[in-house]
Amino acid sequence: MNERPLLFAANWKMNVAPGEARTFLDRFLSLDKPRVGRTVAFFPPAVSLETTAARLRGHEHYLAGAQDVYWEAKGAYTGATSVALARGAGASAALIGHSERRHIFGETDAETNRKVRAVLDGGLMAMLCVGEKLAERERDETEIVVTRQLRAGLDGVAAGADIVIAYEPVWAIGTGRNATPSDAALVHAAIRRVLVQLGFDRDTRVLYGGSVNAGNVAQLIAEPEIDGVLVGGASLDPDGWAGICGVVGQG
Ligand code: PGA
Repeated sequence: MNERPLLFAANWKMNVAPGEARTFLDRFLSLDKPRVGRTVAFFPPAVSLETTAARLRGHEHYLAGAQDVYWEAKGAYTGATSVALARGAGASAALIGHSERRHIFGETDAETNRKVRAVLDGGLMAMLCVGEKLAERERDETEIVVTRQLRAGLDGVAAGADIVIAYEPVWAIGTGRNATPSDAALVHAAIRRVLVQLGFDRDTRVLYGGSVNAGNVAQLIAEPEIDGVLVGGASLDPDGWAGICGVVGQG
């Protein structure tokens, strides 16, 4: 198991309305036992952020974050959420550059960088997502792609900034196909090398995401290079999610 504190992050994507978030968290918190060395983060849709954050307030080992933000501070940007708005709703973190933002909404590396910097300037933790598409993996370009995304996304970011990296191979997201723990660990080690070259601490956490579920989470986090998981589909049921988070501390 791992030296770095583990982070289990639920990415609810475009699911879970405010009332559902409340019901979910009541159930989840009744099942989950807070554990030293493990944080559980929830990334609800923007409309459910305030409800989620309010329900988690005062619970030291849980946090709420935004799924995306826009870098401008305020103004005429219909549909967008600034860092200050997310923070006002109770967010202490934000996901940036999730593959669905990159590949459905056309977000570029340069845009992820502006967002990462805005998140950090606003005092939140930035969770930068990186990962290769299937064709890139088949061309053996995983490391090249991930390195480019990291270098661009973290350009101008001070070493020591509050960042977490989530490695999510695009071909593994929502497909039921995931990287084997040892494959993922190889990419994680490459990510860590880049982070160290960029001056970041060895303790920067690198999470794995992509079809993580109750059946594979234990093997994934048993890899010393994997510091937690970012989970979509399998985080939508409170009992299932509590089971996944509960893998920490089992013998
Ligand atoms: P998944 O999504 O767990 O449903 O594959 C993970 C993610 O996109 O963060």
